[in-house]
Amino acid sequence: MAGTWEGRLTFLRAIEPGDWEAIGALDADDTAQRLGDDLQLPRSRATLQAWADAEATRPRTDDNVRLAIVAFAEFRVVGLINVHGAQPRHRSFEYGITIGSKDQGKGYGREAVHLLLRYMFEELGYHSAHATVYAFNARSQRFHESFGFTPGGKLRESHFSGGRFHDELLYSITAREFADIYGSSL
Ligand SMILES: CC(C)(COP(=O)(O)OP(=O)(O)OC[C@H]1O[C@@H](n2cnc3c(N)ncnc32)[C@H](O)[C@@H]1OP(=O)(O)O)[C@@H](O)C(=O)NCCC(=O)NCCS
Repeated sequence: MAGTWEGRLTFLRAIEPGDWEAIGALDADDTAQRLGDDLQLPRSRATLQAWADAEATRPRTDDNVRLAIVAFAEFRVVGLINVHGAQPRHRSFEYGITIGSKDQGKGYGREAVHLLLRYMFEELGYHSAHATVYAFNARSQRFHESFGFTPGGKLRESHFSGGRFHDELLYSITAREFADIYGSSL
């Protein structure tokens, strides 16, 4: 049986202080950043180091988490994945992911989402996972649909980027749907 945090191509691990450089490279990848999140101002080396230090030592007080996606091939951080908006009472959570532009389309994203969702559903007992995808991000829409997420609903003109407003599309998958597609680990 493979380790909980290991796939065939990648593994997930906590952010380490030394990750500031890889995170800086993801920051500088404005194309990927704009597709996955708000486009930010460039951060200084000192700010990146402070951020990575804080993230590496942040006490766990809830199920929200940010993890590094590391490719086995070069033992290199290729992206970040996070859980936010976790609601234990409703057993629902949102997640976000960014793979650097040069590492997209290699199967890393699919594997990372699979590892994270399996843990959230099978170990923490969450019931539903949600993703918000910008209407201009056709690749992510295709990605979520091929993974097994169901599209449903949109927040109209709720995201401002590139000088205009865009819809945010909502995607979700339940624990049962995940198990039907991918089986259970035990
Ligand atoms: C969207 C994203 C997470 C997908 O991860 P990835 O590692 O590039 O995708 P994978 O290589 O694992 O591919 C998985 C699926 O994505 C789709 N996909 C991959 N490359 C694609 C491409 N060039 N065009 C369209 N769809 C593509 C396919 O459906 C693929 O399924 P398949 O393996 O059955 O063909 C990644 O491209 C990314 O981080 N993009 C920038 C930020 C972003 O959009 N984040 C998500 C915000 S909701």
